[in-house]
Order: sequence, then C-alpha cells, then structure tokens
Amino acid sequence: MAFPQSFLDELIARSDIVDVVGSYVQLTRKGSNLFGLCPFHSEKTGSFSVAPDKQIYHCFGCKKGGGVINFIMEEENLSFPDAVRFLAKRAGMEVPEEEGDREASRRRQRLLDLNRDAARFYYQLLQQPEGRAVQDYLDRRQIKKSTAVKFGMGASLDRWDVLLTAMTKKGYTKAELLDAGLVVQNKNGGLYDKFRNRLMLPVVDTRGDVVAFGSRVLDKSEPKYMNSSETPVYSKRRVLYGLNLAKKTKRPNIILCEGNLDIVTLHQAGFDNAVASMGTALTVEQTRLLSRFTKELVLCYDNDNAGKIATERALQILNNSEFSVKVLQLPRRLVEGEYIKQDADDFIKLQGPDAFERLLTGSENGIEFRMAQVAGKYDLANDESRVAYCGEISELLSTLPGAVEREIYALRAAEAAKISPEAMKLEVQRAFKRRMARERKAETRKNLNPALRSQPQERSLRYDNIRSARAEEGLLRLLLMDESLFPQALSLQEEQFSSPLLGRAFFRLWQAKSDGRSVSLSLLSDTLTQEEMNHVTAVCQQPESLQNGAQAMSDYIRIIQTEYNKRSGAAMDPLLAATEKYKNNKGTGGKQ
Ligand code: CTP
Ligand code: MN
Repeated sequence: MAFPQSFLDELIARSDIVDVVGSYVQLTRKGSNLFGLCPFHSEKTGSFSVAPDKQIYHCFGCKKGGGVINFIMEEENLSFPDAVRFLAKRAGMEVPEEEGDREASRRRQRLLDLNRDAARFYYQLLQQPEGRAVQDYLDRRQIKKSTAVKFGMGASLDRWDVLLTAMTKKGYTKAELLDAGLVVQNKNGGLYDKFRNRLMLPVVDTRGDVVAFGSRVLDKSEPKYMNSSETPVYSKRRVLYGLNLAKKTKRPNIILCEGNLDIVTLHQAGFDNAVASMGTALTVEQTRLLSRFTKELVLCYDNDNAGKIATERALQILNNSEFSVKVLQLPRRLVEGEYIKQDADDFIKLQGPDAFERLLTGSENGIEFRMAQVAGKYDLANDESRVAYCGEISELLSTLPGAVEREIYALRAAEAAKISPEAMKLEVQRAFKRRMARERKAETRKNLNPALRSQPQERSLRYDNIRSARAEEGLLRLLLMDESLFPQALSLQEEQFSSPLLGRAFFRLWQAKSDGRSVSLSLLSDTLTQEEMNHVTAVCQQPESLQNGAQAMSDYIRIIQTEYNKRSGAAMDPLLAATEKYKNNKGTGGKQ
C-alpha cells in the first residue's frame, strides 16, 4: 500500500496542520505555538499544542503527538492509507493508483494468491481419505463440519513435499514458497514442506486475505502449535485470529482469548465475537485494529498464572484507551484435589454455552479484576493482613479518576475487609490526595526542566545510552528545523545510533532529504507505531537553538560516534582517545 512519494509530499504540504487540527480543536495562539484542549484525553486546561513551524502536534498531558497524518489516524481511527485518502479528499487531491510501488504490490499479491491456493489445497486434503487423521482429530475435539468449513480448516499430510509439488505445479516459484514461509530450506539447499501432519488453521485478515497459517499437531508431540513466521504479508502484531468473522458480530463486544481453538469452540457455541492473539501478548496495533469494530472488550485468558499476567498486561495497554474493558474469569477446575487450568474451550465443552453466557454477563470490569487479585494476596481473617490489604487497595482505588467510582469500590473493599465504609473511604481519599500531590510535583519538575519532558514513558523506548541518545535527539531536531545545515553525505550510520527508534526516524528523514524531498515528521507515520511517534514528537518539541547550528550538529555527530566506539569496543584512534579523556576531565573538573 505504498503511495508515490511525490504525492505524499504534496499531500502533506497541502494539509496544513493548523487547518486540519483547527477543524477539530479550538486553538489559540501563544507565542509561536497554538494551544487547545486535547482531543485524546479529557482535560480542563489546554495542554495540547500545535507547532506550525515543525508541522507537529503534541500533548503535554497524555503525550500523544505526531504529524498531520497521525492526527487523522488517531482522531478518525484510520489506518495509514485510509488517513492519507481522507486527507487527500479534504485537500481535493486525487489518490494515484499506487504506481510507485507497483512491483512490490504485485509481489504481495502473488504471496496472497499463494496463501489462498495453499489454504484451498489443505482444505481439499481434509475432505479426502488422506486427511482422515486430521478429520478424526476434529471429531475428537467436537468440531463440527460446518465450523471447520467456516474457518477454512485443512489438513497437511505426513509427507515432505506434497504442498511444494502442488504449488510448483501451479506456477509458484521456490522463492515465492520460501517468502510465504510455506516451505523450509535444509542445509543442502533442498526444500521441504514446513507444515506436516497437522490441522491447518488459515489466518485471515479483516480484508478476507489469507495472510498466514496456524497449525496444531494431532497428538502430544511438540511443538503443539506451529505458526507462519513473519512474511511481507504477515505481521503477527497486526492480526487477530477470527477477527475476519468476529467483525460481523451482532454482539456488543469482542472477546479476546489466547488460543486458536478457543475461538473455534466459542464461535461454534454462538459466541461469534471471539478473537485470539495466538499466544502472544496483546499489542497496540491490535487494539487499534479492534477499535474500528467495537468499543467494548472482554478479556478471557486462561485461568493460570500466565493468563493472569497476560490479563494484567492487556489492562495496562488498554488503560486510558477509549475501550471499556471487562475481565471474564473462568473458574478453575478441581480434579482429584488439585486445581487445574481451564480455557474457554475446556469450559464450554464441560459446562455448555449457557454457563459461558452467564460468565460473560457477569464479567468484571478491569478494576474489579485487580481488586480480586489484591484480595487474593491477603488473609482477610487476620488483622495485620487486613491493614495491609486496606493500604494496597486504597492505593489501587486512588488511580480511578472519578469520585463516584472511587466511592463505590471503596464500599466494596470495606465489605471485603469487614471495616467501616467511612474508614475505607477516608483511606482512599487520602491515597488520592497523595497521588494528586505527587503528580503535581512531577509535573512542575518537568516544566522546570525541559530535558525531563522527553523522558520516555515506555520501557521499549527507554534509552540505553543517555549521552548518545541526547545527541541523537538533537540531531533529529536540527534535521527537521534546518536541513541545509547538513552536508550531502553523512559520516554516520544507523547502527551507530544508540536508540534504534531515533536511528530509524533519523535515517528515514535523511533518505527523504537525499531524495530531494522536504523533510517532515509526517513521513514517519507509516513506519512508526503511534507510541513511537508520540515519543519522537516529544523529542522534536524540545527547544533547540539554530544559532551555532552547524557547530551543534558536528558536536552531536562526534558524541554519537564516540559513544558508539565505546560500546562496540572498537579500537579507538589513540589521539581521539586522548582528546576525549582530556575533555571529560575538563568537563567534570576532575583531577588527573
Ligand atoms: N501457541 C503457539 N505456540 C506454542 C504454544 C501455543 O503459538 N508452542 C499459541 C497458539 O495460538 C495456542 C495458544 O498459544 O492456541 C494457546 O496455547 P495453549 O494454551 O498451550 O494451548 P490451547 O489453546 O489450550 O491448545 P489446545 O487446546 O489445542 O491444546
Ligand atoms: Mn485448550
């Protein structure tokens, strides 16, 4: 889905950020920037800013930010290409028919065709005598014929080259089969089918394309599940198993599970709103995808420890999102005096759809789930633990933004711990006030020290080498503010950046500059996630002086190189090493 670069350049040039944002948010000018109430979180004072010179927006409150395309992606809930089309319509521009990357999109289409043909092939095998073993397995798991058809299930055989031969006959090349991840190469260069003797589960995206396969063994051997690797048409972060069907549900929410076969069983039992993340943790990209179809999510992970951790992680990702989130907790099963894990599939098989429906209606919201987790840690018959419980639970409840919510759950906590509602409410109130004070303090500290404003929020965005990262940030700002400072060729490589994110951002923009295009943050909208974009925008919001810009630029480059040399342990030029040492001593006033 690549648009020609010249088209994107013109689109960005014709979509002034002040105009675009201004049609959603009332903006008032303060100095060189404009401010307004953030459309992405609720607030009373405007911490949302737009910088016309850099053509970016940034909220000091919720930290969201980006260029004009990101703004539309966020505000209108659109994918990158759809946001581009949206803006093109607004600017009265015609969207070119993807001529620029015709070759790439042709190759993608070939892989999609291949996947579809492979899915058909596996499907047909399942209907034939050779597919008997898989059919028996489906019977054992009580999966009906109509369900298997709906999910396009198939069979791979206990042989090395059935798919390879069939697809080669259809005209697909070895390279294409390898690219699609359907065959694997051995040490001698020979090819063989990746999936053998397995139940095949095609993964279909929301457009209806077969983008990958999941598969399961028929017995107890390992690996139990085997999925396609990442390919040009499959990124597991962006796909949810079953969403192609669940997107048409009439139910008011979408249920998230861990396993493929949980989804199959749920759909068969009438819960056609279930999807699975196929064993991986929920990602930001998946939540963005889901937001196009529903506003309410029900987390229904396995009831073992791993499932609890997955639930907690998903709640963190969904915190502050527009979704209302519930947690459906499956009861554990007591078998011969021991509790054993149960997933949605097990539960429905044992208790039936009605019992699941009851759990669904009664499922707790996120805070209830967390309260139950806290309660589970304490013995509420013991006075000392009750005190500790009250402390932890009031900290938890103090994170709720609404006073009514805080009060309602405080009453519940009081009941659980058998203490007076007044005392519990007081505890929560105190915890809330302490939290507010802490946040205010942190806010002031940030405002006093601009360097702190760019402190990355996310672990994944944390810097490993602060000195280098600050220089990388500076270099990125300079490039955005005045690209003419920079020479034609740069004595830096992407790998020399300590922060992969900053490296990626910088070199993407550098490429644009080298191609003679205008450098704008909006060019990053399709390569960075919204989270990464938020971070990069925050970085670009920091003050950077253009006075002595050239000097600053060469200083930044030198710092990045020196830090890289230190990290890579490369033998330093002795002269360079000596000057570095001298400077460091001078800088800190250290003695020899
Ligand atoms: N999974 C995977 N690779 C594995 C194990 C699991 O990709 N080696 C993914 C699969 O998508 C699977 C999900 O994680 O559906 C949940 O795994 P698990 O709980 O182990 O299996 P179940 O879904 O219960 O599988 P089944 O009921 O078929 O035994
Ligand atoms: Mn299972």
